[in-house]
Amino acid sequence: MKKKLLIQTTDLSLSFPSASGKLQILNSVNFSLFEEETVALVGPSGSGKSSLLMLLGGLEDCESGSIIVNGSEITKLSEDQLTNLRKKTMGIVFQSFHLIPTITALDNVSIPLELAGHLNVKNRAIEILNEVGLEKRLNHFPSQLSGGEQQRVAIARALAIKPKIILADEPTGNLDQNTGLKIIDLLFSLNKKNKSSLVIVTHSTELAEKCQRQVKLEDGKTIESNW
Ligand SMILES: Nc1ncnc2c1ncn2[C@@H]1O[C@H](COP(=O)(O)OP(=O)(O)O)[C@@H](O)[C@H]1O
Ligand SMILES: [Mg+2]
Repeated sequence: MKKKLLIQTTDLSLSFPSASGKLQILNSVNFSLFEEETVALVGPSGSGKSSLLMLLGGLEDCESGSIIVNGSEITKLSEDQLTNLRKKTMGIVFQSFHLIPTITALDNVSIPLELAGHLNVKNRAIEILNEVGLEKRLNHFPSQLSGGEQQRVAIARALAIKPKIILADEPTGNLDQNTGLKIIDLLFSLNKKNKSSLVIVTHSTELAEKCQRQVKLEDGKTIESNW
């Protein structure tokens, strides 16, 4: 059976003004992501990996081009429509966790479930925190958790709604190697279990090789790379 296309960008461009003129970050990028696919997004620092991920997540505006996510042209959606699409179909994991510091792990994970109108928020939040191995840390605040545990909470928060698409921006960048490897295993196993698709930005060749496809950003263009 042919896999469904979940993300398709066409001639996607992004630039920023700078003192020395226009800084072209993405130059006519055509990127696609299919159902149940894992894609590594690689490239040198400053090549626009985070920017592309933010565009795919509808968290930044592009300059020109089109981005179709799960059948919707997201560059034409209102902020409310975008939020709606995001909370139903996407989970985003950042390098620096981005947890809300003043609330517990359980509450951090409950928020996206509440926003998505989930019927049994607390049960689902506890269930996913169990899956990431934090059943004994439900009422801990982020500052009371190690880096690896905070990233587990962030993964639980992103995956609580069972999103079709997971976008992860260097999710192990702030962790030691051992903790990072465990986080990667967790992310891949939950992705597989939920039959979701994963786009992961990484500097690690080893991690990129775990993905079905590697896409490299260079000089504003994407290149399918074979290591
Ligand atoms: N809001 C912004 N204003 C100006 N320049 C930006 C902005 N965001 C990113 N950039 C520039 O865009 C380039 C790509 O950034 P980024 O997407 O973070 O790269 P990567 O994640 O590959 O390291 C960098 O040179 C960065 O300085
Ligand atoms: Mg980046």
